[in-house]
Amino acid sequence: MASFPVSSSLTICMLFLVIGSTSAQLSTNFYYHSCPNLFSTVKSTVQSAISKEARMGASLLRLFFHDCFVNGCDGSVLLDDTSSFTGEKRAAPNFNSARGFEVVDNIKSAVERACPGVVSCADVLAIAARDSVEILGGPRWDVKLGRRDARTASQAAANNSIPPPTTNLNALISRFSAVGLSSKDLVALSGSHTIGLARCTNFRARIYNETNNLDSSLARTRQSNCPSVSGSGDNNLAPLDLQTPTNFDNNYFKNLVNRRGLLHSDQQLFNGGSTDSAVRAYSNNPGSFASDFAAAMIKMGDIKPLTGSKGEIRKNCRRVN
Ligand code: HEM
Repeated sequence: MASFPVSSSLTICMLFLVIGSTSAQLSTNFYYHSCPNLFSTVKSTVQSAISKEARMGASLLRLFFHDCFVNGCDGSVLLDDTSSFTGEKRAAPNFNSARGFEVVDNIKSAVERACPGVVSCADVLAIAARDSVEILGGPRWDVKLGRRDARTASQAAANNSIPPPTTNLNALISRFSAVGLSSKDLVALSGSHTIGLARCTNFRARIYNETNNLDSSLARTRQSNCPSVSGSGDNNLAPLDLQTPTNFDNNYFKNLVNRRGLLHSDQQLFNGGSTDSAVRAYSNNPGSFASDFAAAMIKMGDIKPLTGSKGEIRKNCRRVN
């Protein structure tokens, strides 16, 4: 019986290992041949959505965070509930709050027209988040691609994995560490709150009770549109960054240094603890925030992707094929 020499078997083994590991990686040129106009197609749709409503950039960025933190960046947050399927949209952090799904539909339709059945919804979201930040004046990074879409979603995982705004520093650090992100990543990524809005229900307790680490003039301003009684005005909105809520800059960190974080979890990052120095550094150096933010977004985008033959390329981001 013919047998491979040991060296050939070893070569084949190593080749298999190399191919095997490559297929599990994301790469920046994943759709280079299969969808050459992908980036321009996504960007023009994101651009027109942001031109209609600047907040949409914030909403798309947040969707990517809520996707990645729940069983990895697999497009699960985009699945609609059906009579026989419970998705993540009604989980506490998303219900009445996560938005931008129609824009994701528009991007996906445009991408499907350009290259049908090729690009996952998870990747569409990763590119849309990157473009949103850039369009609003933040850094640009080379987004890694090759994720595939989940065929399931988990409301319980969404409730357990996305930290609520009542979270203290240690718990924030451990939630991020649970998905492989450092406390430096936590601070950089929280800089996302330099754009977008929050509902009264998420900052009421802070503006009425946290007098020790909240600027009193901001407290008064926010109280004027967020009644103290729970159940009234719950959905009234306020900017997370009081100065420039549609510019991706480092004002969020300047606010924290001045005790002007809107959410309890925001001010936790500058409240005498281990992350104070990083907050102060970003408040003084917009360039280091921009580069650390871009690096942290790439790391967040690497959380547990489905690759190779796992999952599917959904045709419609709202339902499994
Ligand atoms: C560190 C833990 C975090 C907590 C506790 C948190 C919590 C929140 C809350 C409560 C809101 C307001 C939602 C509402 O009132 O409807 C919000 C908004 C937002 N979050 Fe976070 N977040 C965190 C981290 C992040 C990260 C890592 C990102 C992105 C990488 C992000 C991006 C955003 C954006 C852009 C908005 C505004 C969305 C809009 O205007 O539609 N957040 N966040």
